[in-house]
Amino acid sequence: MVRTAAAISGRYSRRRVELPQRRFCGSQHATWAGGQWTTMELTKLTEEEFDRFRTFIYGKTGIRMADGKITLLSNRIRRRLRDLGIDSFEDYYHQLTRDRLPGELEQFIDAITTNETHFFRTGGHFDWFSGAFLPELLNRAAEKKHDRSLRVWSAACSSGEELYTLAICIDEMLHRFGGWRISLLGSDISETMITAAKRGVFPDRSLEHVSAERRRKYFTHLPDENGWAIRPRLVQMCEFQRHNLLDPIAAPRQDCIFIRNVFIYFDRESKQRAVRNLIDALAPGGFLVVGPADGIYDLLGDLEKQSIFLYKKPL
Ligand SMILES: C[S@@+](CC[C@H](N)C(=O)[O-])C[C@H]1O[C@@H](n2cnc3c(N)ncnc32)[C@H](O)[C@@H]1O
Repeated sequence: MVRTAAAISGRYSRRRVELPQRRFCGSQHATWAGGQWTTMELTKLTEEEFDRFRTFIYGKTGIRMADGKITLLSNRIRRRLRDLGIDSFEDYYHQLTRDRLPGELEQFIDAITTNETHFFRTGGHFDWFSGAFLPELLNRAAEKKHDRSLRVWSAACSSGEELYTLAICIDEMLHRFGGWRISLLGSDISETMITAAKRGVFPDRSLEHVSAERRRKYFTHLPDENGWAIRPRLVQMCEFQRHNLLDPIAAPRQDCIFIRNVFIYFDRESKQRAVRNLIDALAPGGFLVVGPADGIYDLLGDLEKQSIFLYKKPL
């Protein structure tokens, strides 16, 4: 719906010299042009616009937005329009897909992805990592069946809590890893999440499952930021990079890959593509740790099932 703002707010037109070019209020969006304010109702994407955006999203990320997500996607894109001062979903689509907005693809991907995570999420996975995986690897190295090297990848790590949890588990046994080469890699499609992970400052709610003892040992409380900074020693143990799971990763083969809570919005084809890349990235004898709702159990080919969340690549 388009209507002149003069009809809505004479106040704006009388003081026009001092006014900015654009104004936003709720889902309304006003632009000063031709001597008057024009407002547009940025309600919802049309079905056609929704289809175009979701085809674009699928091609870039593998995420398939379900039919019922039109309101969710409209709300998220509307925020980008407001930040950029763009008047219509259609205009934004054209500028985005024709690469006319530098850096916007990253912002757009940030806006549409869900980054929920926290330390020690699904604690049983970390009990296995500390209680079985690390001790077995130490034994295999002692028997000269494995190098004194450990490579772990948190694929789709969001703001880094998953990888830092693994770093804590390793640090708690670090005295047994003298002389080892340890590589901890975290990756995510979202540049904003990677920047946050590198910074290593987390809100209270991220630490809900972190014991008081671990808080004392591994975090510094930052009352001004209402958050917790992970100790620099752990930041130095971890490397973070932007990576799309639909592409193969350029990294040495991994002893263990955590891939959790990411495939919920992928369809079968994009899951298949990403899972193939993950299996290729695993070293023989390496383990894949899978999230409870990721729905990839039937795509894991030759991997041997160890338990509901754990799959091993044959030696
Ligand atoms: C809900 S978080 C899961 C974080 C962590 N693995 C956990 O379980 O707590 C899902 C993450 O997957 C990322 N993601 C979505 N599509 C991706 C893709 N194609 N490649 C890499 N990361 C992707 C999102 O940016 C988001 O940070």
